[in-house]
Amino acid sequence: MKKSTFFIIFFLNILCFSCIQTNTATFLPSEKQVLADSAMVVSAHPLASEVGANILRQGGNAVDAAVGLQFALAVVYPRAGNIGGGGFMIYRDKDGTSTTLDFREKAPKTASRDMYLDSKGDPTDKSRYGHLSVGVPGSVDGMFTAHAKYGKIQDFNTLLQPAIDLAEKGYYLTEKEASSLNEKKADFEKNNPEGCLFIKDSPWKKGDLFVQKDLAETLKRIRDKGRAGFYEGKTAALLVKEMQTATGIISLDDLKSYQSVWRKPIKGQYKNYEIISMPPPSSGGIALVQMLKMIEPYPIKSWGFQDARSIHVITESMRRAYADRAEHLGDPDYWTVPQAQLLDSGYLKSRMSTFEDKQASKSADVAAGTFEAPVESEETTHFSIVDTEGNAVSITTTLNSSYGSKVVVAGAGFILNNEMDDFSAKPGVPNLYGLIGKEANAIQPEKRMLSSMTPTIVTKEGQLNMVIGSPGGSTIITQVLQVFLNVAEYDMGMSDAIQAKRFHHQWLPDALYMEEGAFKDSTVQALERKGHTVKSRGAIGRFEGILVLPDGKLEGGADTRGDDDAEGF
Ligand code: DON
Repeated sequence: MKKSTFFIIFFLNILCFSCIQTNTATFLPSEKQVLADSAMVVSAHPLASEVGANILRQGGNAVDAAVGLQFALAVVYPRAGNIGGGGFMIYRDKDGTSTTLDFREKAPKTASRDMYLDSKGDPTDKSRYGHLSVGVPGSVDGMFTAHAKYGKIQDFNTLLQPAIDLAEKGYYLTEKEASSLNEKKADFEKNNPEGCLFIKDSPWKKGDLFVQKDLAETLKRIRDKGRAGFYEGKTAALLVKEMQTATGIISLDDLKSYQSVWRKPIKGQYKNYEIISMPPPSSGGIALVQMLKMIEPYPIKSWGFQDARSIHVITESMRRAYADRAEHLGDPDYWTVPQAQLLDSGYLKSRMSTFEDKQASKSADVAAGTFEAPVESEETTHFSIVDTEGNAVSITTTLNSSYGSKVVVAGAGFILNNEMDDFSAKPGVPNLYGLIGKEANAIQPEKRMLSSMTPTIVTKEGQLNMVIGSPGGSTIITQVLQVFLNVAEYDMGMSDAIQAKRFHHQWLPDALYMEEGAFKDSTVQALERKGHTVKSRGAIGRFEGILVLPDGKLEGGADTRGDDDAEGF
Protein backbone atom coordinates (compact mmCIF):
# COMPACT_ATOMS: atom_id res chain seq x y z
CA MET A 1 0.00 0.00 0.00
CA LYS A 2 1.30 3.48 -0.86
CA LYS A 3 2.16 5.69 2.09
CA SER A 4 -0.38 8.34 1.03
CA THR A 5 -3.17 5.71 0.76
CA PHE A 6 -2.24 4.43 4.21
CA PHE A 7 -2.60 7.91 5.71
CA ILE A 8 -5.94 8.50 3.99
CA ILE A 9 -7.29 5.21 5.37
CA PHE A 10 -5.82 5.99 8.81
CA PHE A 11 -7.45 9.44 8.78
CA LEU A 12 -10.82 8.01 7.66
CA ASN A 13 -10.68 5.45 10.45
CA ILE A 14 -10.09 8.18 13.03
CA LEU A 15 -12.99 10.14 11.55
CA CYS A 16 -15.20 7.07 11.69
CA PHE A 17 -14.16 6.35 15.28
CA SER A 18 -15.12 9.88 16.25
CA CYS A 19 -18.56 9.23 14.69
CA ILE A 20 -18.85 6.23 16.99
CA GLN A 21 -18.01 8.42 19.97
CA THR A 22 -20.17 11.42 19.14
CA ASN A 23 -23.36 12.03 21.09
CA THR A 24 -25.27 13.47 18.19
CA ALA A 25 -25.62 10.18 16.35
CA THR A 26 -24.34 6.72 16.90
CA PHE A 27 -23.01 3.52 15.50
CA LEU A 28 -21.65 0.62 17.53
CA PRO A 29 -20.00 -2.57 16.32
CA SER A 30 -21.56 -5.83 17.52
CA GLU A 31 -20.00 -8.42 19.85
CA LYS A 32 -21.03 -12.04 19.43
CA GLN A 33 -19.57 -13.65 22.52
CA VAL A 34 -19.04 -11.78 25.78
CA LEU A 35 -18.02 -12.99 29.24
CA ALA A 36 -18.96 -10.87 32.24
CA ASP A 37 -18.95 -11.09 36.02
CA SER A 38 -22.17 -9.32 36.98
CA ALA A 39 -24.75 -8.58 34.31
CA MET A 40 -25.52 -9.23 30.66
CA VAL A 41 -27.79 -7.95 27.90
CA VAL A 42 -28.13 -9.61 24.49
CA SER A 43 -30.35 -8.19 21.75
CA ALA A 44 -30.69 -7.80 18.00
CA HIS A 45 -28.92 -4.43 17.94
CA PRO A 46 -25.74 -3.06 19.59
CA LEU A 47 -27.35 0.31 20.36
CA ALA A 48 -30.28 -1.38 22.08
CA SER A 49 -28.00 -3.71 24.06
CA GLU A 50 -26.06 -0.64 25.17
CA VAL A 51 -29.22 1.12 26.34
CA GLY A 52 -30.13 -1.96 28.43
CA ALA A 53 -26.62 -2.33 29.87
CA ASN A 54 -26.43 1.36 30.77
CA ILE A 55 -29.70 1.12 32.70
CA LEU A 56 -28.24 -1.83 34.62
CA ARG A 57 -25.04 0.18 35.28
CA GLN A 58 -27.20 2.96 36.76
CA GLY A 59 -28.61 0.49 39.30
CA GLY A 60 -31.68 -0.53 37.32
CA ASN A 61 -32.85 -4.13 37.45
CA ALA A 62 -33.59 -6.54 34.60
CA VAL A 63 -37.14 -5.21 34.12
CA ASP A 64 -35.98 -1.57 34.00
CA ALA A 65 -33.39 -2.59 31.40
CA ALA A 66 -36.03 -4.50 29.44
CA VAL A 67 -38.29 -1.44 29.31
CA GLY A 68 -35.49 0.84 28.06
CA LEU A 69 -34.36 -1.79 25.59
CA GLN A 70 -37.82 -2.49 24.18
CA PHE A 71 -38.33 1.21 23.41
CA ALA A 72 -34.79 1.52 21.99
CA LEU A 73 -35.39 -1.45 19.69
CA ALA A 74 -38.55 0.26 18.40
CA VAL A 75 -36.20 2.98 17.14
CA VAL A 76 -33.07 1.15 15.97
CA TYR A 77 -34.64 -2.11 14.79
CA PRO A 78 -37.91 -1.06 13.15
CA ARG A 79 -38.34 -4.33 11.26
CA ALA A 80 -39.26 -6.06 14.53
CA GLY A 81 -38.58 -3.84 17.52
CA ASN A 82 -41.83 -2.07 18.16
CA ILE A 83 -44.39 -0.10 20.02
CA GLY A 84 -47.01 -1.14 17.43
CA GLY A 85 -46.73 -4.88 18.09
CA GLY A 86 -46.78 -7.27 21.01
CA GLY A 87 -44.90 -10.02 22.77
CA PHE A 88 -44.27 -12.16 25.80
CA MET A 89 -42.01 -11.89 28.85
CA ILE A 90 -40.68 -14.57 31.16
CA TYR A 91 -39.40 -13.15 34.44
CA ARG A 92 -37.53 -15.08 37.11
CA ASP A 93 -36.34 -13.23 40.18
CA LYS A 94 -33.15 -13.90 42.07
CA ASP A 95 -35.05 -15.99 44.64
CA GLY A 96 -36.43 -18.34 42.02
CA THR A 97 -40.01 -17.08 41.64
CA SER A 98 -41.09 -16.95 38.03
CA THR A 99 -44.00 -15.53 36.09
CA THR A 100 -44.92 -14.61 32.53
CA LEU A 101 -46.54 -11.54 31.02
CA ASP A 102 -48.68 -11.84 27.91
CA PHE A 103 -48.70 -8.56 25.97
CA ARG A 104 -49.76 -10.20 22.74
CA GLU A 105 -51.95 -8.21 20.32
CA LYS A 106 -55.70 -8.81 20.35
CA ALA A 107 -58.25 -8.94 17.56
CA PRO A 108 -60.23 -5.67 17.39
CA LYS A 109 -63.73 -5.78 18.87
CA THR A 110 -65.34 -5.71 15.43
CA ALA A 111 -63.16 -8.55 14.04
CA SER A 112 -65.01 -11.60 12.81
CA ARG A 113 -64.26 -15.20 11.97
CA ASP A 114 -64.38 -14.89 8.16
CA MET A 115 -63.06 -11.34 7.82
CA TYR A 116 -60.18 -12.38 5.53
CA LEU A 117 -62.20 -14.60 3.18
CA ASP A 118 -63.41 -13.47 -0.24
CA SER A 119 -66.93 -14.01 -1.59
CA LYS A 120 -66.02 -17.58 -2.56
CA GLY A 121 -64.81 -18.31 0.95
CA ASP A 122 -61.12 -18.33 -0.03
CA PRO A 123 -58.46 -16.56 2.06
CA THR A 124 -57.14 -13.21 0.80
CA ASP A 125 -53.82 -11.50 1.58
CA LYS A 126 -55.59 -8.91 3.76
CA SER A 127 -54.45 -10.72 6.92
CA ARG A 128 -50.85 -10.03 5.89
CA TYR A 129 -50.74 -6.58 4.33
CA GLY A 130 -52.25 -3.25 5.13
CA HIS A 131 -54.55 -1.77 7.70
CA LEU A 132 -56.90 -4.73 8.17
CA SER A 133 -54.02 -7.03 9.19
CA VAL A 134 -53.29 -5.06 12.36
CA GLY A 135 -54.03 -6.43 15.82
CA VAL A 136 -54.50 -4.09 18.80
CA PRO A 137 -50.89 -3.46 19.94
CA GLY A 138 -49.77 -4.71 23.37
CA SER A 139 -46.11 -3.73 23.73
CA VAL A 140 -46.53 -0.37 25.48
CA ASP A 141 -49.06 -1.73 27.96
CA GLY A 142 -46.75 -4.72 28.51
CA MET A 143 -43.80 -2.54 29.41
CA PHE A 144 -45.80 -0.41 31.84
CA THR A 145 -47.47 -3.46 33.41
CA ALA A 146 -44.12 -5.23 33.91
CA HIS A 147 -42.55 -2.07 35.29
CA ALA A 148 -45.41 -1.35 37.72
CA LYS A 149 -44.86 -4.76 39.34
CA TYR A 150 -41.10 -5.20 39.20
CA GLY A 151 -39.41 -1.95 38.12
CA LYS A 152 -36.89 -0.28 40.43
CA ILE A 153 -36.04 2.97 38.61
CA GLN A 154 -39.19 5.05 38.88
CA ASP A 155 -38.09 7.90 36.63
CA PHE A 156 -39.28 7.21 33.09
CA ASN A 157 -36.89 9.82 31.81
CA THR A 158 -34.02 7.46 32.60
CA LEU A 159 -35.77 4.57 30.88
CA LEU A 160 -37.10 6.30 27.76
CA GLN A 161 -34.69 9.14 27.07
CA PRO A 162 -32.10 6.89 25.39
CA ALA A 163 -34.73 5.75 22.86
CA ILE A 164 -35.94 9.33 22.37
CA ASP A 165 -32.36 10.49 21.71
CA LEU A 166 -31.79 7.71 19.18
CA ALA A 167 -34.98 8.71 17.36
CA GLU A 168 -34.29 12.45 17.51
CA LYS A 169 -30.57 12.49 16.73
CA GLY A 170 -30.54 9.40 14.56
CA TYR A 171 -28.24 6.43 14.15
CA TYR A 172 -26.22 5.08 11.24
CA LEU A 173 -27.71 2.23 9.26
CA THR A 174 -25.76 -1.00 8.92
CA GLU A 175 -25.51 -2.82 5.60
CA LYS A 176 -28.21 -5.31 6.63
CA GLU A 177 -30.60 -2.55 7.78
CA ALA A 178 -30.15 -0.54 4.57
CA SER A 179 -30.78 -3.53 2.35
CA SER A 180 -33.79 -4.70 4.34
CA LEU A 181 -35.38 -1.23 3.96
CA ASN A 182 -34.64 -1.27 0.22
CA GLU A 183 -36.20 -4.72 -0.15
CA LYS A 184 -39.47 -3.51 1.35
CA LYS A 185 -39.68 -0.22 -0.58
CA ALA A 186 -42.57 -1.28 -2.83
CA ASP A 187 -44.54 -2.61 0.18
CA PHE A 188 -44.05 0.66 2.06
CA GLU A 189 -45.16 2.64 -1.01
CA LYS A 190 -48.27 0.52 -1.45
CA ASN A 191 -49.33 0.80 2.19
CA ASN A 192 -48.38 4.46 2.72
CA PRO A 193 -49.59 6.27 -0.42
CA GLU A 194 -48.82 9.65 1.16
CA GLY A 195 -45.22 8.54 1.71
CA CYS A 196 -43.37 7.67 4.92
CA LEU A 197 -39.97 7.95 6.48
CA PHE A 198 -38.90 4.49 5.40
CA ILE A 199 -39.11 5.42 1.71
CA LYS A 200 -36.41 7.44 -0.02
CA ASP A 201 -35.82 8.17 -3.72
CA SER A 202 -32.33 6.73 -3.87
CA PRO A 203 -31.58 3.39 -2.18
CA TRP A 204 -30.64 3.36 1.50
CA LYS A 205 -27.01 2.55 2.10
CA LYS A 206 -24.74 1.62 4.96
CA GLY A 207 -23.82 4.72 6.98
CA ASP A 208 -26.99 6.72 6.17
CA LEU A 209 -28.16 8.67 9.21
CA PHE A 210 -31.70 7.61 10.13
CA VAL A 211 -33.64 10.22 12.11
CA GLN A 212 -37.26 9.65 13.27
CA LYS A 213 -38.73 12.93 14.59
CA ASP A 214 -42.39 11.82 14.75
CA LEU A 215 -41.42 8.68 16.63
CA ALA A 216 -39.40 10.79 19.08
CA GLU A 217 -42.54 12.88 19.81
CA THR A 218 -44.62 9.72 20.31
CA LEU A 219 -42.02 8.36 22.73
CA LYS A 220 -42.07 11.66 24.63
CA ARG A 221 -45.86 11.35 25.05
CA ILE A 222 -45.35 7.81 26.40
CA ARG A 223 -42.56 9.02 28.71
CA ASP A 224 -44.75 11.81 30.10
CA LYS A 225 -48.16 10.12 30.22
CA GLY A 226 -47.35 6.42 30.59
CA ARG A 227 -49.65 3.96 28.80
CA ALA A 228 -52.15 6.79 28.20
CA GLY A 229 -49.47 8.41 26.01
CA PHE A 230 -50.07 5.59 23.55
CA TYR A 231 -53.58 4.18 24.12
CA GLU A 232 -55.27 7.56 24.58
CA GLY A 233 -54.84 11.17 23.49
CA LYS A 234 -52.87 12.20 20.43
CA THR A 235 -51.11 8.89 19.68
CA ALA A 236 -54.36 6.92 19.85
CA ALA A 237 -56.13 9.54 17.70
CA LEU A 238 -53.37 9.34 15.06
CA LEU A 239 -53.52 5.54 15.05
CA VAL A 240 -57.29 5.49 14.59
CA LYS A 241 -57.06 8.19 11.91
CA GLU A 242 -54.49 6.02 10.11
CA MET A 243 -56.93 3.07 10.30
CA GLN A 244 -59.64 5.21 8.73
CA THR A 245 -57.50 6.15 5.71
CA ALA A 246 -58.01 2.57 4.52
CA THR A 247 -59.77 -0.59 5.70
CA GLY A 248 -58.52 -0.65 9.31
CA ILE A 249 -60.97 -1.40 12.12
CA ILE A 250 -59.08 -0.58 15.34
CA SER A 251 -61.07 1.94 17.38
CA LEU A 252 -60.28 4.26 20.29
CA ASP A 253 -62.22 1.85 22.48
CA ASP A 254 -60.04 -1.09 21.34
CA LEU A 255 -56.95 0.85 22.33
CA LYS A 256 -58.22 2.11 25.66
CA SER A 257 -59.39 -1.30 26.80
CA TYR A 258 -56.24 -3.26 25.85
CA GLN A 259 -54.70 -5.07 28.85
CA SER A 260 -51.72 -7.39 29.25
CA VAL A 261 -52.23 -10.56 31.27
CA TRP A 262 -49.98 -12.24 33.88
CA ARG A 263 -49.98 -15.97 33.23
CA LYS A 264 -48.57 -18.99 35.01
CA PRO A 265 -45.48 -20.29 33.20
CA ILE A 266 -45.24 -23.69 31.54
CA LYS A 267 -42.69 -25.70 33.51
CA GLY A 268 -41.10 -28.99 32.53
CA GLN A 269 -38.19 -31.10 33.67
CA TYR A 270 -35.50 -32.42 31.30
CA LYS A 271 -32.93 -34.46 33.26
CA ASN A 272 -31.52 -32.02 35.85
CA TYR A 273 -32.81 -28.91 34.06
CA GLU A 274 -36.11 -27.11 34.57
CA ILE A 275 -37.64 -25.28 31.61
CA ILE A 276 -39.73 -22.17 32.35
CA SER A 277 -41.53 -20.98 29.24
CA MET A 278 -44.56 -19.27 27.76
CA PRO A 279 -48.09 -20.74 28.06
CA PRO A 280 -50.88 -20.16 25.53
CA PRO A 281 -51.63 -17.97 23.64
CA SER A 282 -48.10 -19.00 22.75
CA SER A 283 -47.64 -22.56 21.64
CA GLY A 284 -43.95 -22.27 22.54
CA GLY A 285 -43.79 -23.56 26.10
CA ILE A 286 -46.11 -26.55 25.62
CA ALA A 287 -44.48 -27.65 22.34
CA LEU A 288 -40.96 -27.21 23.76
CA VAL A 289 -41.65 -29.33 26.83
CA GLN A 290 -43.50 -31.92 24.74
CA MET A 291 -40.51 -32.29 22.40
CA LEU A 292 -38.00 -32.51 25.25
CA LYS A 293 -40.03 -35.20 27.02
CA MET A 294 -40.29 -37.19 23.79
CA ILE A 295 -36.50 -36.92 23.22
CA GLU A 296 -35.38 -37.54 26.83
CA PRO A 297 -35.40 -41.38 26.72
CA TYR A 298 -33.05 -41.49 23.69
CA PRO A 299 -29.22 -41.44 24.02
CA ILE A 300 -28.70 -38.44 21.75
CA LYS A 301 -25.50 -37.48 23.56
CA SER A 302 -23.75 -40.75 22.83
CA TRP A 303 -25.14 -40.80 19.28
CA GLY A 304 -23.46 -37.40 18.87
CA PHE A 305 -24.15 -33.83 17.80
CA GLN A 306 -25.90 -33.66 14.42
CA ASP A 307 -25.60 -37.42 14.01
CA ALA A 308 -28.40 -38.64 11.71
CA ARG A 309 -29.89 -40.76 14.56
CA SER A 310 -30.10 -37.70 16.84
CA ILE A 311 -31.59 -35.50 14.12
CA HIS A 312 -34.09 -38.24 13.30
CA VAL A 313 -35.46 -38.60 16.82
CA ILE A 314 -35.53 -34.82 17.38
CA THR A 315 -37.38 -34.38 14.06
CA GLU A 316 -39.97 -37.00 14.99
CA SER A 317 -40.63 -35.17 18.26
CA MET A 318 -41.12 -31.93 16.30
CA ARG A 319 -43.58 -33.60 13.90
CA ARG A 320 -45.75 -34.83 16.78
CA ALA A 321 -45.67 -31.61 18.81
CA TYR A 322 -46.67 -29.44 15.80
CA ALA A 323 -49.57 -31.80 14.98
CA ASP A 324 -50.88 -31.18 18.51
CA ARG A 325 -50.27 -27.45 18.14
CA ALA A 326 -52.54 -27.25 15.09
CA GLU A 327 -55.46 -28.96 16.79
CA HIS A 328 -55.35 -28.02 20.43
CA LEU A 329 -53.70 -24.65 20.94
CA GLY A 330 -55.30 -21.23 20.97
CA ASP A 331 -55.98 -18.31 23.30
CA PRO A 332 -56.86 -19.91 26.67
CA ASP A 333 -59.31 -17.07 27.39
CA TYR A 334 -61.40 -18.31 24.44
CA TRP A 335 -60.53 -22.00 24.05
CA THR A 336 -60.04 -24.79 26.54
CA VAL A 337 -56.47 -25.91 25.99
CA PRO A 338 -55.91 -29.47 27.28
CA GLN A 339 -52.61 -28.38 28.80
CA ALA A 340 -52.24 -31.09 31.46
CA GLN A 341 -53.03 -33.83 28.93
CA LEU A 342 -50.59 -32.48 26.36
CA LEU A 343 -47.81 -32.44 28.95
CA ASP A 344 -48.67 -35.75 30.59
CA SER A 345 -45.68 -38.10 30.54
CA GLY A 346 -47.81 -41.15 29.69
CA TYR A 347 -49.36 -39.27 26.79
CA LEU A 348 -45.97 -38.16 25.46
CA LYS A 349 -44.61 -41.70 25.75
CA SER A 350 -47.58 -42.94 23.73
CA ARG A 351 -46.95 -40.24 21.09
CA MET A 352 -43.53 -41.82 20.45
CA SER A 353 -44.88 -45.39 20.34
CA THR A 354 -45.02 -45.08 16.54
CA PHE A 355 -41.38 -43.92 16.34
CA GLU A 356 -39.15 -46.20 14.27
CA ASP A 357 -35.42 -45.73 14.28
CA LYS A 358 -35.01 -46.80 10.66
CA GLN A 359 -37.98 -45.01 9.16
CA ALA A 360 -39.40 -41.47 9.21
CA SER A 361 -43.08 -41.28 10.13
CA LYS A 362 -45.40 -39.71 7.58
CA SER A 363 -47.10 -36.53 8.70
CA ALA A 364 -50.29 -37.77 7.04
CA ASP A 365 -50.27 -40.66 9.55
CA VAL A 366 -49.48 -38.46 12.55
CA ALA A 367 -52.68 -36.75 13.64
CA ALA A 368 -52.99 -34.70 16.78
CA GLY A 369 -53.49 -36.69 19.96
CA THR A 370 -57.04 -37.22 21.17
CA PHE A 371 -58.29 -37.10 24.72
CA GLU A 372 -61.12 -38.98 26.31
CA ALA A 373 -62.97 -36.03 27.74
CA PRO A 374 -62.79 -32.31 27.19
CA VAL A 375 -60.93 -30.66 29.98
CA GLU A 376 -61.84 -27.52 31.82
CA SER A 377 -59.40 -25.85 32.83
CA GLU A 378 -40.43 -14.59 9.70
CA GLU A 379 -40.15 -10.70 11.90
CA THR A 380 -39.69 -10.84 15.52
CA THR A 381 -36.90 -10.12 17.95
CA HIS A 382 -35.72 -11.54 21.23
CA PHE A 383 -33.67 -10.16 24.09
CA SER A 384 -32.22 -11.76 27.20
CA ILE A 385 -31.13 -9.90 30.34
CA VAL A 386 -29.54 -10.90 33.65
CA ASP A 387 -29.02 -8.10 36.16
CA THR A 388 -26.42 -7.72 38.90
CA GLU A 389 -28.70 -9.39 41.48
CA GLY A 390 -29.45 -12.41 39.31
CA ASN A 391 -32.97 -11.45 38.19
CA ALA A 392 -33.60 -12.57 34.62
CA VAL A 393 -35.85 -11.39 31.80
CA SER A 394 -36.49 -13.21 28.53
CA ILE A 395 -38.65 -11.26 26.06
CA THR A 396 -39.67 -12.04 22.50
CA THR A 397 -41.55 -9.25 20.75
CA THR A 398 -42.86 -8.90 17.23
CA LEU A 399 -44.64 -7.05 14.45
CA ASN A 400 -45.08 -10.53 12.83
CA SER A 401 -43.45 -10.30 9.39
CA SER A 402 -40.61 -7.89 8.61
CA TYR A 403 -41.93 -4.33 9.27
CA GLY A 404 -45.34 -5.90 10.09
CA SER A 405 -48.23 -4.60 8.01
CA LYS A 406 -45.81 -2.00 6.48
CA VAL A 407 -48.33 0.62 7.61
CA VAL A 408 -46.65 3.57 9.34
CA VAL A 409 -48.94 5.68 11.54
CA ALA A 410 -48.82 9.09 9.87
CA GLY A 411 -47.68 11.78 12.30
CA ALA A 412 -46.69 9.23 14.95
CA GLY A 413 -43.85 7.51 13.08
CA PHE A 414 -44.27 3.90 14.14
CA ILE A 415 -45.02 0.72 12.21
CA LEU A 416 -48.09 -1.40 12.90
CA ASN A 417 -48.06 -5.19 13.17
CA ASN A 418 -49.75 -7.72 10.86
CA GLU A 419 -50.30 -10.17 13.69
CA MET A 420 -53.87 -11.02 12.58
CA ASP A 421 -52.26 -13.47 10.12
CA ASP A 422 -51.29 -15.66 13.09
CA PHE A 423 -54.96 -16.56 13.44
CA SER A 424 -56.24 -19.40 11.38
CA ALA A 425 -58.09 -17.29 8.76
CA LYS A 426 -59.64 -20.47 7.40
CA PRO A 427 -59.30 -23.83 9.15
CA GLY A 428 -56.69 -26.01 7.48
CA VAL A 429 -55.25 -23.22 5.31
CA PRO A 430 -51.61 -22.39 6.13
CA ASN A 431 -50.59 -18.94 7.35
CA LEU A 432 -47.45 -16.97 6.46
CA TYR A 433 -45.28 -19.58 8.20
CA GLY A 434 -47.06 -22.55 6.64
CA LEU A 435 -48.73 -23.29 9.97
CA ILE A 436 -52.12 -24.91 9.94
CA GLY A 437 -54.68 -24.09 12.60
CA LYS A 438 -58.24 -25.04 13.34
CA GLU A 439 -61.12 -23.98 15.53
CA ALA A 440 -58.87 -23.40 18.55
CA ASN A 441 -57.24 -20.51 16.68
CA ALA A 442 -60.20 -19.15 14.71
CA ILE A 443 -60.76 -15.36 14.80
CA GLN A 444 -63.04 -13.95 17.49
CA PRO A 445 -63.40 -10.38 18.74
CA GLU A 446 -60.74 -9.53 21.35
CA LYS A 447 -59.13 -12.98 21.12
CA ARG A 448 -55.33 -13.33 20.97
CA MET A 449 -53.83 -15.09 17.96
CA LEU A 450 -51.74 -18.21 18.61
CA SER A 451 -48.00 -17.59 18.65
CA SER A 452 -44.80 -19.62 18.39
CA MET A 453 -42.72 -17.16 20.39
CA THR A 454 -40.82 -19.06 23.06
CA PRO A 455 -38.98 -16.79 25.47
CA THR A 456 -37.49 -19.26 27.95
CA ILE A 457 -35.52 -19.39 31.18
CA VAL A 458 -33.77 -22.60 32.23
CA THR A 459 -32.58 -23.54 35.69
CA LYS A 460 -30.16 -26.32 36.54
CA GLU A 461 -30.49 -27.91 39.97
CA GLY A 462 -32.50 -24.89 41.05
CA GLN A 463 -30.02 -22.25 39.89
CA LEU A 464 -30.42 -19.85 36.97
CA ASN A 465 -28.73 -21.44 33.94
CA MET A 466 -29.97 -20.07 30.60
CA VAL A 467 -32.01 -17.13 29.31
CA ILE A 468 -32.86 -17.88 25.68
CA GLY A 469 -35.07 -17.10 22.70
CA SER A 470 -35.25 -16.13 19.04
CA PRO A 471 -37.44 -14.82 16.22
CA GLY A 472 -38.27 -17.02 13.22
CA GLY A 473 -42.04 -17.66 13.10
CA SER A 474 -42.82 -21.36 13.26
CA THR A 475 -39.10 -22.23 13.67
CA ILE A 476 -38.78 -20.43 17.01
CA ILE A 477 -39.77 -23.41 19.12
CA THR A 478 -37.43 -25.84 17.36
CA GLN A 479 -34.57 -23.33 17.63
CA VAL A 480 -35.02 -22.99 21.39
CA LEU A 481 -35.11 -26.79 21.60
CA GLN A 482 -31.83 -27.15 19.70
CA VAL A 483 -29.88 -24.41 21.48
CA PHE A 484 -30.98 -25.89 24.81
CA LEU A 485 -29.89 -29.39 23.72
CA ASN A 486 -26.58 -28.06 22.36
CA VAL A 487 -25.76 -26.78 25.84
CA ALA A 488 -27.40 -29.51 27.94
CA GLU A 489 -26.44 -32.56 25.89
CA TYR A 490 -23.49 -31.48 23.76
CA ASP A 491 -21.65 -29.38 26.37
CA MET A 492 -21.43 -26.26 24.19
CA GLY A 493 -21.07 -22.72 25.49
CA MET A 494 -23.90 -20.29 24.62
CA SER A 495 -22.24 -18.70 21.61
CA ASP A 496 -21.27 -22.05 20.03
CA ALA A 497 -24.74 -23.41 20.76
CA ILE A 498 -26.25 -20.44 18.91
CA GLN A 499 -23.89 -20.37 15.94
CA ALA A 500 -24.34 -24.15 15.30
CA LYS A 501 -26.51 -24.80 12.25
CA ARG A 502 -30.13 -25.69 12.86
CA PHE A 503 -32.90 -27.79 11.33
CA HIS A 504 -36.68 -27.62 11.54
CA HIS A 505 -39.78 -29.76 11.02
CA GLN A 506 -43.33 -28.56 11.68
CA TRP A 507 -45.48 -31.59 10.80
CA LEU A 508 -46.96 -29.91 7.70
CA PRO A 509 -45.47 -29.47 5.18
CA ASP A 510 -43.87 -32.89 5.66
CA ALA A 511 -40.30 -31.67 5.09
CA LEU A 512 -37.13 -31.46 7.15
CA TYR A 513 -35.58 -28.02 6.61
CA MET A 514 -31.82 -27.80 7.20
CA GLU A 515 -29.67 -24.68 7.09
CA GLU A 516 -27.67 -24.86 3.90
CA GLY A 517 -24.05 -25.85 3.67
CA ALA A 518 -23.76 -27.02 7.24
CA PHE A 519 -24.67 -30.65 7.47
CA LYS A 520 -22.46 -33.46 6.19
CA ASP A 521 -23.64 -35.06 2.93
CA SER A 522 -23.52 -38.45 4.64
CA THR A 523 -25.87 -37.17 7.38
CA VAL A 524 -28.35 -35.78 4.87
CA GLN A 525 -28.22 -39.03 2.87
CA ALA A 526 -28.79 -41.11 6.00
CA LEU A 527 -31.86 -38.99 6.82
CA GLU A 528 -33.17 -39.34 3.26
CA ARG A 529 -32.71 -43.11 3.43
CA LYS A 530 -34.95 -43.11 6.50
CA GLY A 531 -37.59 -41.38 4.35
CA HIS A 532 -37.20 -37.72 5.37
CA THR A 533 -37.74 -35.15 2.63
CA VAL A 534 -34.77 -32.88 3.28
CA LYS A 535 -34.92 -29.29 2.02
CA SER A 536 -32.06 -26.91 2.36
CA ARG A 537 -32.88 -23.33 3.40
CA GLY A 538 -31.29 -20.04 4.48
CA ALA A 539 -30.67 -18.79 8.00
CA ILE A 540 -33.07 -20.00 10.68
CA GLY A 541 -33.63 -17.27 13.29
CA ARG A 542 -31.51 -14.75 15.19
CA PHE A 543 -30.93 -16.22 18.61
CA GLU A 544 -29.94 -14.31 21.75
CA GLY A 545 -28.88 -16.21 24.86
CA ILE A 546 -27.15 -15.99 28.22
CA LEU A 547 -25.54 -18.95 29.98
CA VAL A 548 -24.45 -18.96 33.61
CA LEU A 549 -21.09 -20.74 33.61
CA PRO A 550 -20.03 -23.11 36.42
CA ASP A 551 -17.82 -20.36 37.96
CA GLY A 552 -20.80 -17.97 38.07
CA LYS A 553 -19.65 -15.81 35.16
CA LEU A 554 -22.18 -14.97 32.46
CA GLU A 555 -21.65 -15.87 28.82
CA GLY A 556 -23.67 -13.77 26.39
CA GLY A 557 -24.15 -15.26 22.93
CA ALA A 558 -25.48 -13.17 20.03
CA ASP A 559 -26.36 -14.66 16.69
CA THR A 560 -23.91 -14.22 13.80
CA ARG A 561 -26.91 -14.50 11.46
CA GLY A 562 -27.58 -10.77 12.11
CA ASP A 563 -26.16 -7.58 13.67
CA ASP A 564 -27.01 -9.01 17.09
CA ASP A 565 -24.91 -8.00 20.07
CA ALA A 566 -24.04 -8.99 23.62
CA GLU A 567 -22.95 -6.48 26.21
CA GLY A 568 -21.95 -7.27 29.79
CA PHE A 569 -19.96 -6.01 32.71
O1 DON B 1 -46.04 -14.91 17.09
C1 DON B 1 -45.55 -15.58 16.21
O2 DON B 1 -45.36 -16.78 16.29
C2 DON B 1 -45.09 -14.88 14.94
N1 DON B 1 -45.88 -13.70 14.72
C3 DON B 1 -43.63 -14.60 15.03
C4 DON B 1 -43.08 -14.02 13.76
C5 DON B 1 -41.63 -14.13 13.64
O3 DON B 1 -40.96 -14.68 14.47
C6 DON B 1 -41.04 -13.58 12.42
N2 DON B 1 -39.62 -13.53 12.52
N3 DON B 1 -38.80 -13.82 11.77
